[in-house]
Amino acid sequence: MDLPDLAPATVVVSAGRPDREQGAPVNPPIVLSSTYVNQGATGTGLLYTRMGTETWVPFEEALGALEGAAHPAVVFGSGMAAVAAALSVVPDRGVLVVPRHAYQVSLGYADDLATRHGVEVRRVDIADTEQVVAALDGADVALIESPTNPMLEVADLPVLLAAARERGVTTIVDNTFATPLVQTPLALGADIVLHSVSKYLAGHSDVVLGACVTNDTDLDARLRAYRTLHGAIAGPFEVWLALRGLRTLALRVERSQRSAAELAARLAAHPAVAEVRHPSLPGDPGHERAAQQMRGFGSVLGVRPVGGAEGADAVVAAVRLWTPATSLGGVESTLERRRRFATESTTVPEDLLRLSVGIEDVDDLWADLAQALDRAS
Ligand SMILES: Cc1ncc(COP(=O)(O)O)c(C=O)c1O
Repeated sequence: MDLPDLAPATVVVSAGRPDREQGAPVNPPIVLSSTYVNQGATGTGLLYTRMGTETWVPFEEALGALEGAAHPAVVFGSGMAAVAAALSVVPDRGVLVVPRHAYQVSLGYADDLATRHGVEVRRVDIADTEQVVAALDGADVALIESPTNPMLEVADLPVLLAAARERGVTTIVDNTFATPLVQTPLALGADIVLHSVSKYLAGHSDVVLGACVTNDTDLDARLRAYRTLHGAIAGPFEVWLALRGLRTLALRVERSQRSAAELAARLAAHPAVAEVRHPSLPGDPGHERAAQQMRGFGSVLGVRPVGGAEGADAVVAAVRLWTPATSLGGVESTLERRRRFATESTTVPEDLLRLSVGIEDVDDLWADLAQALDRAS
């Protein structure tokens, strides 16, 4: 289906459907076959599922269309497989710029590149544009998150992506927190956009998947070759579930963003809360930038209850509706204290709770948080 002029809320519903023929299914089928009838010289037709299966294609087309990409997305077996594939463009002994606050396992992967491949890793405050631009000098690749996990810092994407391009630095933007409905970094000049599809895109906390997407034909070929060589493939059923989840992305994002902004405002006024981080708040350091470059403020909040790490743990123990769990972007609201992980950046405050706002009734979510905060304090 040709979808050039449709709004993203329509694309999530319409993309990746089978051709409209009499008797055709409305949804694409799941093909469970590791191998395909194929003989003689290779190069035509499907061959073996590690190299490609028709069940990836509808999701890849839909995500490619949402990111406004020249190519379909490349789906991987997890967000981390997508991170590893994207970071495979960093040369041995090259220079990689990363946010000091970012998904901790992505930062761990960068450290692994430093240890095993002699890569110089420059950790920067991604919200400090001058610092990042200085770090781009002489760099090969920059990995950008915006908003960052878990600090919700907002990078100046148009300026950073332009500065990287001027310097010949390849840029990778992790768009997991924002989703393509809220920002489309390829349009601002990013080379690769990646997702943990496990989060908002699939949206139901029932699959682990990742994806990369690019406008660049060579990068697209490299990402596909990486997937085949490393066997970093997604199972057909998971990709089908992700496409099913994607159909409601616009509704889920609209609802959870609205609730997140409402909860941020209520939390900021609560006496048992020392600090709230969410770009929707007028006083948040990322507010103005986010208002300019994003279509909404995202649905993840950073909250520091009074009472330090103990106070934060007490809130997690006292909630009844919110689920104490890692991950984010599901229909159900979750929360966790990030520094419970020994590997989380030490500049993330010990008492920071990361809240992922789902699609439940906002007053129910608030009532549960408020009783937990009252009990904990
Ligand atoms: C921003 C971000 N990028 C990448 C990942 C890794 O994704 P996955 O868990 O699907 O491997 C995560 C997971 O939490 C994440 O939050």
